[in-house]
Amino acid sequence: MDIQESIQWTNDQVLKKTGKHLDSLQRTILAGALEQKTYQQVAKDYHCSKDHAKRVASDLWKLLSDVLDENVKKSNVKSILEHIEFRHISNWGSDSTQIFGNINICSDIYPNPEEVRDKSHSQADYESQLHHDLSEAPEPKSLRHRTEELATLEKWIIGEHHRLIAITGLSGMGKTMLVRQLVENIKDNFDRILWRSHRKYVNSDALETDIAQFLFLTENPKNSSISKFIKTRNLIIDYLRTHRCLIILDDLQETLCPRELVGHYCPGYDNYNQLIKEFGQSEHQSCVILLGWEQPPELAILENKNNYCKTLHLEGLDNQCATEILENQNLKDKQQWSKLIRLYSGNPLWLNLISTTILDLFNGSVSQFLSYSNLFLGDVESILKQHDLRLSETEKLVIVGLAQNHGMADISNKPINNISDRDYLKALSSLRKRSLIEIHTEKSSSIVKIEPAILEYFKS
Ligand SMILES: Nc1ncnc2c1ncn2[C@@H]1O[C@H](COP(=O)(O)OP(=O)(O)OP(=O)(O)O)[C@@H](O)[C@H]1O
Ligand SMILES: [Mg+2]
Repeated sequence: MDIQESIQWTNDQVLKKTGKHLDSLQRTILAGALEQKTYQQVAKDYHCSKDHAKRVASDLWKLLSDVLDENVKKSNVKSILEHIEFRHISNWGSDSTQIFGNINICSDIYPNPEEVRDKSHSQADYESQLHHDLSEAPEPKSLRHRTEELATLEKWIIGEHHRLIAITGLSGMGKTMLVRQLVENIKDNFDRILWRSHRKYVNSDALETDIAQFLFLTENPKNSSISKFIKTRNLIIDYLRTHRCLIILDDLQETLCPRELVGHYCPGYDNYNQLIKEFGQSEHQSCVILLGWEQPPELAILENKNNYCKTLHLEGLDNQCATEILENQNLKDKQQWSKLIRLYSGNPLWLNLISTTILDLFNGSVSQFLSYSNLFLGDVESILKQHDLRLSETEKLVIVGLAQNHGMADISNKPINNISDRDYLKALSSLRKRSLIEIHTEKSSSIVKIEPAILEYFKS
């Protein structure tokens, strides 16, 4: 196994045991340990402090000790993983070694073909499993809302053959749910469908390799010369040209650097913009959908340049749809629900979370909950913390300044003094791309606004 395969394999073991993927810092630490880097170097790669990297690493080694049933430390993780690889190779014999060398050994998606047949799955089942790999997508639930967004996406993809679509919005807005429903609606139009999260890959090479493996193995699962094909970007694009494929890549923010202004790729993803450009610019009959909190930096330019790239920014549910969520939660005081929906921006996840708090603390009474003068965020706070952790210093300064200014400012009146006009405007532009502020045009002026829950978070 090379380093990327080791990380991917370890991630799969963690996912199986805990239901969670390794996050980007954990993967950077693991990669660093396998490359025998110091914590200082790892911290530099990730743009975080050495102490933070060490703290996260200490928890990671405990987690891996539990998952792999070995006493894992930075000093021995490499040899433990090599030992596990050796055990698998010895057990599987030469044919399987070939497969192991190229493919995640524990994947349910690329099982040893012989094993699949032994389990008496029909060839047809096996092929259809390979054609549509939705193993990393959530279970489909029938989505009652978002009909307009679904219609727009279907028009772009089926009607107008767009090649690259980004769907952006704050955490919990329902991007993943929306696209899961979209896939159910349009799957019959595609030869191949692949759903992956960026969380899984330590760098863009690993992602490209995985896409290539899926596409080419679909064609010929026993192809022994697969390694000649993979990592060859032109062949991926050729494949998208000759087959109609739908590729969904979720959690794009994992590829973008935290603590910098929006739109800079993390180390390891420096060349990812090239792949995204090719998805958008090359002529092909497939569609790639990117989901994330932030728009990929190239997309705005691609959207202007050609007619085959689009961005859909997902906003909160309208009052009627959000009301259905509150009905399902059996909250009381219906006359107050519109206010609650407004305060939590119609974000379905936030509304579900705060409903649970209202049930727990206020026996479901929305009026009592709202009688407090400060908005209580409950579990929404930890979600906003994830967004907060991505901000650069200037963005943080600006959003806290705006929050202390009641979450509103005329764009021509900077509410903070200790920052240059240039940095202020750069920070506003970046915060807007992260969906943390909105710019409303009112009569002749533009007003910067912060949604109530976000305002409450940054005020305190
Ligand atoms: N249209 C909807 N109607 C009802 N509930 C919804 C809807 N969309 C999302 N939800 C609820 O909100 C939760 C979060 O949705 P989802 O995971 O799709 O958000 P997301 O935008 O992908 O968030 P993240 O950026 O963190 O991945 C879902 O588990 C579901 O419970
Ligand atoms: Mg999601």
